[in-house]
Amino acid sequence: MRVELKNLGKRYRDADRELTVINGLTFSFPERGTVAIIGRSGIGKSTLMHLLGGLDTPSSGQVLYGSQDLSALGSDARAAFRARHVGFIFQFHHLLPEFSALENVAMPLLMVGTPEADARSEASALLARMGMRARESHLPSQLSGGEQQRVAIARALINRPRVVLADEPTGNLDVKTAGEVQALLLEMNRELQNTIIMVTHSEELAHTMDVVVEMLPGGALMEHKHRSLSMES
Ligand SMILES: Nc1ncnc2c1ncn2[C@@H]1O[C@H](COP(=O)(O)OP(=O)(O)OP(=O)(O)O)[C@@H](O)[C@H]1O
Ligand SMILES: [Mg+2]
Repeated sequence: MRVELKNLGKRYRDADRELTVINGLTFSFPERGTVAIIGRSGIGKSTLMHLLGGLDTPSSGQVLYGSQDLSALGSDARAAFRARHVGFIFQFHHLLPEFSALENVAMPLLMVGTPEADARSEASALLARMGMRARESHLPSQLSGGEQQRVAIARALINRPRVVLADEPTGNLDVKTAGEVQALLLEMNRELQNTIIMVTHSEELAHTMDVVVEMLPGGALMEHKHRSLSMES
C-alpha cells in the first residue's frame, strides 16, 4: 500500500510556547521495500511515526494510505484501520506484562475477530520461526531483551500488515542481538512484500535499506539513497 504525506504539519502547543516540528511535508513512500529515517535527536522522527500510524493527529495536512485519509477517520475507525493494515515496533517493546509471549502475539488476530484456536496456532508458528518455540508460554518479564523484541516483532507482523512502522526497534539491544533482530525484520519484509519504515540512529543499518531519508528542521525529508525495487529476487 502506498503511504503519502500531503502538506503535513504538526505543532505542539503548551501554555507559553508553540513548537512547529513538521511544516508542510509532502512525501511519498514506496509501495514495498525498506525505508530508513535518520536525523538528529529531537528533530521530529517519532512525531512523524506517530502521525504515520494515526497514533496522533496532524495539525494540518493529510496522511494517506492509498486513497484513505487517516485523519478523516474517527478514533475508533482509525484504530480498526491500524489493526488491519499497520504494524508497530517501538524501541521498548510495550508487551502486555500479564500475558504470555504467545498471547501477546495472538492478540492482534483476536482483535480482528480470528477464532482463538486459529489465533493461537498462527502465533505459535510465527514465534517458532523466530526461534522462540521454547519461550512461548513465558511472560515478558521472563524473557531477555532480544527475546522480548522478537515477540514484539511477531506481534507487529502477525496480521501481515501492508505497512510496518519501527521506531528504533533495536535501539536498546546489544550489537549482535540488534543485528539478528534486524535480519529477521528484513526477512519478514521480503516475505510479506510490504513496506517497512524504520527510524534508526545506525548509519550502518540505514545503508542496508532500499531508501534512506534524512529528516531536516521543519520536518522536511531529504532522500540520500533510493535503490530501485524492480530487480528484487
Ligand atoms: N507531546 C509533546 N508536546 C510538546 N513537545 C513535544 C511532544 N512530543 C515531542 N515534542 C517535541 O517535539 C520535538 C520532536 O520530538 P521527537 O520525539 O519527534 O524527536 P525524535 O527525532 O524522535 O528524537 P529522538 O531521536 O531523540 O528520538 C522535540 O523538540 C520534542 O521536545
Ligand atoms: Mg524518537
